Amino acid sequence: MLQLCIIGAGYVGLVSGACLAKLGHHVTCLDRDSARIEGLKRGIMPIYEPGLAELVAEMTKAGRLRFGIEKDDAAPDAVFLAVGTPPEEHSGAADLRFLLAAAEEIAAHAPPGLTVVTKSTVPVGTGAKLAGMFPSLRFASNPEFLREGVAIEDFLKPERIVIGTADSHAQGLLRRIYAPLTERGVPLLATGMETAELIKYASNAFLATKVAFINQIADICEAMGADVEEVARGMGLDSRIGSRFLRAGPGYGGSCFPKDTLALLHTAEAADSPPTIIRAAVEANTRRRTQMVKKITTACGGSVAGKTLAILGLAFKPKTDDMRESPAMTIIGQLLDKGAIIRAYDPQAMEQAKALLPGEVTLTASAEAAMQGADAAVIITEWEEFAALDMTQVKTWLRTPLLIDLRNLYSPAEMAAAGITYISVGRPYAK
Ligand code: UDX
Repeated sequence: MLQLCIIGAGYVGLVSGACLAKLGHHVTCLDRDSARIEGLKRGIMPIYEPGLAELVAEMTKAGRLRFGIEKDDAAPDAVFLAVGTPPEEHSGAADLRFLLAAAEEIAAHAPPGLTVVTKSTVPVGTGAKLAGMFPSLRFASNPEFLREGVAIEDFLKPERIVIGTADSHAQGLLRRIYAPLTERGVPLLATGMETAELIKYASNAFLATKVAFINQIADICEAMGADVEEVARGMGLDSRIGSRFLRAGPGYGGSCFPKDTLALLHTAEAADSPPTIIRAAVEANTRRRTQMVKKITTACGGSVAGKTLAILGLAFKPKTDDMRESPAMTIIGQLLDKGAIIRAYDPQAMEQAKALLPGEVTLTASAEAAMQGADAAVIITEWEEFAALDMTQVKTWLRTPLLIDLRNLYSPAEMAAAGITYISVGRPYAK
């Protein structure tokens, strides 16, 4: 059991802090946002993540997790930096302002030799830069591989732990921190800082490229009358490919794939190694939202002007309220520009969506309310409830029985049998 301090109580810091406490450590989680900290002290979560409120309550009750605004005098064994590193407006490079401010704050008060672990996703070379700026501290990279919606499981049952540092003390400390996991057989890769930083970017860029790839195959399927779900199944049976991250859809979004791919493009260009493959995936993914709008427009007879569309799903994926880079926002914006009337529903992201909607959108309290009297329904996020709609009812709600499903939740044959005109991604048209 070690004394750990986490700086940043967001998607990464809060989950990591609660899970490190679950592993048996004593964790203090700090954030500059006093309202966020006050809320956490009262059990109010600043983000939606399944199981997080329960885990925070359990660890707070156990006395292993507490929240504060700034470092108190207790000297932790290690400090984790989990502050945001958002993309810069124009260049797409990671904005390190918050990270550097946190490191300066630590260096100003920390005893010499304190281990500082970068959990935030940072450009390759950041660890070395920090070590050069703050020679009294020991630095290590420990990237996270948390998926939103399953972040607690991803932390407590990881497929690998990556530690990047040249400092043997820091490495030994991180081995002790993760001992409860490695003792259960979780592989731990100890390597250099640059390598650890690049593992994170390369992993996300590869997964993003895999998604962009299957979406391109979906386009070919549509042209050739093939079924992308079957193609994905056939590909995925090859263990060298694997079946995961082969679901065709409206393109990837979220706080990581878009940000991390752009940051890697920036790093590669700065290193004079043109990232043509990754750039092609990023550009294909950006184009995909417009492609989806074209699919919707075509399904509505060539124009959506004056048509009422029921958008099902706003978050970038299910089990989260995160709207960052959500395909729904771009798609809704373009539909509004084409004169569509939009009603939208999301089980979790309504609050987050309110401030981000790209124009006049009616948010409804249910999927049914969104579909009542609409000319078509469009599934954008694959929430479970949208996969279990009663099509007999849907037909009575919609003015015309037209469902455009960007996540392939239903079978074209079943929809044809139900008398619903069903348009999906990379699969034959069903009528
Ligand atoms: C991702 C990485 O998976 C995780 O390891 C990293 O730490 C953070 O970034 P996350 O962004 O939470 O996690 O979501 P993920 O489940 O990976 O999905 C990313 C995007 O790809 C989503 O927009 C999702 O809809 C899309 N996606 C994913 C597909 O379109 N098809 C798929 O088969 C899988």
